[in-house]
Amino acid sequence: MLKTKLCGISLKNPLMLAAGVLGSHASSLNWILNSGAGAVVSKSFSKEPNEGYKNPTTVAVEGGIINAIGLSSPGVDAFIEELESVNRIKGRSIASIYGATPDEFSYVAGKIESLVDMIEMNISCPHAMEGYGASIGQNPDLTREFVSAVKDTVSVPVLAKLTPNVTNISEIAIAAEEGGADGLTLINSLGPGMKIDIITGNPILANKFGGMSGPAIKPIAVRCVYDAYEATDIPIVGVGGIRNYTDVVEFLYAGASAVQIGTSIMYEGPEIFGRIRK
Ligand SMILES: Cc1cc2nc3c(=O)[nH]c(=O)nc-3n(C[C@H](O)[C@H](O)[C@H](O)COP(=O)(O)O)c2cc1C
Repeated sequence: MLKTKLCGISLKNPLMLAAGVLGSHASSLNWILNSGAGAVVSKSFSKEPNEGYKNPTTVAVEGGIINAIGLSSPGVDAFIEELESVNRIKGRSIASIYGATPDEFSYVAGKIESLVDMIEMNISCPHAMEGYGASIGQNPDLTREFVSAVKDTVSVPVLAKLTPNVTNISEIAIAAEEGGADGLTLINSLGPGMKIDIITGNPILANKFGGMSGPAIKPIAVRCVYDAYEATDIPIVGVGGIRNYTDVVEFLYAGASAVQIGTSIMYEGPEIFGRIRK
């Protein structure tokens, strides 16, 4: 009854793991699939290994968390081993990839496309190094160019994951559609935000700033999904602050065809998928 289709790919239900939470290893991705998710998205990975930022990389705040992981990645060659072990009989496997140039994205996409059902392009991380993440997805021309490069390389469906940190999300959604994106994922974390330790007077995160996620960002995510739905004709995956089935229904009414869950897994574990599905 919950079966659905996204970009021509069938899903046993519309619930997915969001990129970056429990997504670095096949063992945890399989744990999420066994917990009832219809699909899992890996943590974002790149062509070359990247250490990411120093600890602390996450801090709890009212309504969610702030994170600045810094796109840590073991590099595509190491990540291939994980993707090979994801149980694609249980559910769908989606790779989240990032890079600084269209060529880097295409290289990574080409290397892994045979191992996954879809690719999600992270052009939206709010705490990435200059030239990566949101610095691509805040510019419609770069968005179009990067998406089009990946689409020219692979035949699996490509989702462009967008940032809410823009003046006009419709303009970026249209650019991704023009670049050939098969679907859109909205939203990546919001911000950057900051939390200060009032005993030391210092920011808590090593990177000072990070992306905000969790229940507090849900109204912004719902509005972004709605705007993108009005502006484009491609399917949308909604993400941001989902905790229960009523949140999912809200995203579906806004125009989403499927949803992803990230931060709430930290509060209540992978069991959230079974609970929401029920
Ligand atoms: C700890 C953490 C790491 C994340 N890493 C990634 C990532 O690697 N790639 C990405 O596209 N989004 C990443 N995100 C963003 C989530 O996929 C999601 O878009 C955002 O957190 C909003 O959803 P949520 O409120 O359900 O967490 C990360 C979020 C968190 C909390």
